[in-house]
Amino acid sequence: MLFKRVKPLDQIIATAEKKALTRQLGAFQLTMLGIGAIIGTGIFVLTAEAGQKAGPGMMVSFVIAAVVCGLAALAYAELASMVPVAGSAYTYTYGVLGEGMAWVVGWALVLEYTIAASTVCVGWSGYVNGLLAAHGMGLPEFLRTGPMDGGAFNLLAFLIGLVITFLLVVGTSKSAVVNACLVLIKVFALTIFIILALPKVQETNFHPFVPNGWGSPMGGIGVLGAAASIFFAYVGFDAVSTAAEETKNPNRNIPIGLIGSLGVCTIYYLLVSYGAIGSVGAQPITSASGVALQPGSPEMAAACKASDALVCSKEALAHVLRMLHFVGWGDLIGAAASIALPSVILTMTYGQTRIFFTMARDGLLPESLSKIHPRFHTPHVITLITGIFVSIFGALYPVGQLADITNSGTLFAFMMVAIGVMVLRVTQPERKRPFRTPLVWVVCPLAVFGCLLLFVNLPTTTLKVFFGWGIVGLVIYYLYGHRKSHLANGTESA
Ligand code: ALA
Repeated sequence: MLFKRVKPLDQIIATAEKKALTRQLGAFQLTMLGIGAIIGTGIFVLTAEAGQKAGPGMMVSFVIAAVVCGLAALAYAELASMVPVAGSAYTYTYGVLGEGMAWVVGWALVLEYTIAASTVCVGWSGYVNGLLAAHGMGLPEFLRTGPMDGGAFNLLAFLIGLVITFLLVVGTSKSAVVNACLVLIKVFALTIFIILALPKVQETNFHPFVPNGWGSPMGGIGVLGAAASIFFAYVGFDAVSTAAEETKNPNRNIPIGLIGSLGVCTIYYLLVSYGAIGSVGAQPITSASGVALQPGSPEMAAACKASDALVCSKEALAHVLRMLHFVGWGDLIGAAASIALPSVILTMTYGQTRIFFTMARDGLLPESLSKIHPRFHTPHVITLITGIFVSIFGALYPVGQLADITNSGTLFAFMMVAIGVMVLRVTQPERKRPFRTPLVWVVCPLAVFGCLLLFVNLPTTTLKVFFGWGIVGLVIYYLYGHRKSHLANGTESA
């Protein structure tokens, strides 16, 4: 049943061709686009969580996550170039595996986009709270984090979510110039960090290298557990794949843009984590029985109350510099993160509203959700609903748990895309492919395997949320979308 109602690819492409974009992006612009979408909460904040999960071995976690992303990205790019329309993995799946699976993927993408936006809200609040506290203007404890993290309500995460929602409702979009400035600020901050931290590295801080082992399925800990979490630091590279339609010579430039942005970020991430681990140490905090505590758990929050360890910090990079007595530079990194991170929230919330919009246009969600505001010309209803959820999740949940949930949805969607590429190679071999995944029968199976490996290494609670969410989604589909689908009813909207 799930695999029925395949929407013909030609029909999808015909919609897109009505508004074809000019091919103007080259390899350099693509790489900048990728770096702009990638660098964010992952490296600035989750480095602390990764340290708690893997200790110094988190450097290996960064490499594993990058390889999985690179493989998935190459698969993604083939479909993105064949079916260059809004809705990304949801739309591709509609055209390859049918409506039911497309709904499941679209539903999983809610985890990717909405929860990623919440994650970055929390990451941002960590830095701004740190800056305020460093200057004697800190908020009361209970307004700094959510209930599981030792507080009650993360006020700043909630407020930034609302501000971004407002900007999206009135129609703010990021220009290429703004994007380039933000990329420079982020890269500058990471470069300063590396320059200051590397000379302070001490060999002894790398021992033991893998204090929690390599990881066991559903344990959410160890090097693989950290890789599954730190995967978040690379989320966003699909921005490069989705620009395939606007790229000159996509067969050459897309892989350069993808591998280039992933490569640059991986090198930065390795140097930053090497500097952080080597200068102040990153050994996990353990329970009395010697077991590493789960980041984001009440036990961890309690243990962190009296600790200034890196693994406890909510503003990892600024914290390291302050510990190294570079207080002013720590504040500067904090300021850079505070300026640059909201653009990631904006991109993610925007992405979510456009996916919902596409699903509503297909009749799988109520059409009223895709209503356009008469003055601002934005889908204000769906933007407001999305934004309110982004803000509430940000106010209540710890950053690491939100990142893990984001990753579950993203890994699932990437897996479906890699499968979709292989299915289409068999079922429609002669269809035009502006970009072809190189060594497809090696890259795609490895991408599926890599995504699965990270997926099963997420914590059990995350997997329960993922499957629970999936079941709710299927119920909604059978109660609503299955009956109202435009494809099924022959009521395709323009
Ligand atoms: N990769 C993005 C970040 O780390 C989502 O914030």
